[in-house]
Amino acid sequence: MTVLAEARALQLVHGRADVRAAVGAARAAGETVALVPTMGFLHDGHMSLVHRARELADRVMMSIFVNPLQFGPSEDLDRYPRDLEGDLRLAREHGVDLVFAPSAAEMYPHGPQQVRVEPGPLGARMEGAIRPGHFSGMLTVVAKLFGIFGPDVAVFGQKDFQQATLIRRMVGDLDLPVRVEVAPIVREADGLAMSSRNVYLSAEERARALALHRGLRRGHELFAAGERDAAVLRQALWAALRVPGIEPEYAEAVHPDTLEPVAAAAPGTVLLVAARVGGTRLIDNAVLS
Ligand code: PAF
Repeated sequence: MTVLAEARALQLVHGRADVRAAVGAARAAGETVALVPTMGFLHDGHMSLVHRARELADRVMMSIFVNPLQFGPSEDLDRYPRDLEGDLRLAREHGVDLVFAPSAAEMYPHGPQQVRVEPGPLGARMEGAIRPGHFSGMLTVVAKLFGIFGPDVAVFGQKDFQQATLIRRMVGDLDLPVRVEVAPIVREADGLAMSSRNVYLSAEERARALALHRGLRRGHELFAAGERDAAVLRQALWAALRVPGIEPEYAEAVHPDTLEPVAAAAPGTVLLVAARVGGTRLIDNAVLS
């Protein structure tokens, strides 16, 4: 991954008004704006979103906010990894122009959020079934970020496939004036999908976690060899996940837009897996081609 040879000036802001002023100045100069929403603890996966954003707009702006609204009561909000200093270093190196790092009070100034975006049926299965309320909290903060930045384009990662599908659908259903771009998954050399939560894994758990990618690869191999029965592909995913030390949660083959399970796999069908490895929930997916 290329890093800008000369670090650019990065503006760090904490207030919504500062974002509006910076976006206003960019617009006044005739520039377009890309937004990369994140929860921080940045890695190369995030940087690939930054690079895609740089291709699509004149200014690359990033939000770093661990959004309490999208965490359930028994989830990892308090221990979610945070490192603003490290994040700023990486963002600067990769040419981000502005980072918006608000407090919860700045994002939710009126106290508990009353009006929320509801995901509907697309958000009911898979992640939505396992993490009730998660997608409503996620869509609500993304809609707020779109309102605060008013970006021309926003870039999300394919690793959260259901999230990206829901964001696209929200933008379509609510006629939000923003283009949604989804960038491919970035993997470690051994295939593990990059995630801020990988930091929770011990060395042993990390080795076990490769089962998710192994299952997806097997599903892809079967498809490439001509297998079209989605039940067989699902079985291959389950088989990879049914190993000691892993608690599988789902293994699906779905249509990319409706997220409905398919009977026959076709190019574009998405294989999705989720599992707990030790105390850590991991998700991964692959689009069949
Ligand atoms: O994918 C994430 O990091 C978060 O869900 C997002 C989109 C930044 C909203 O909090």
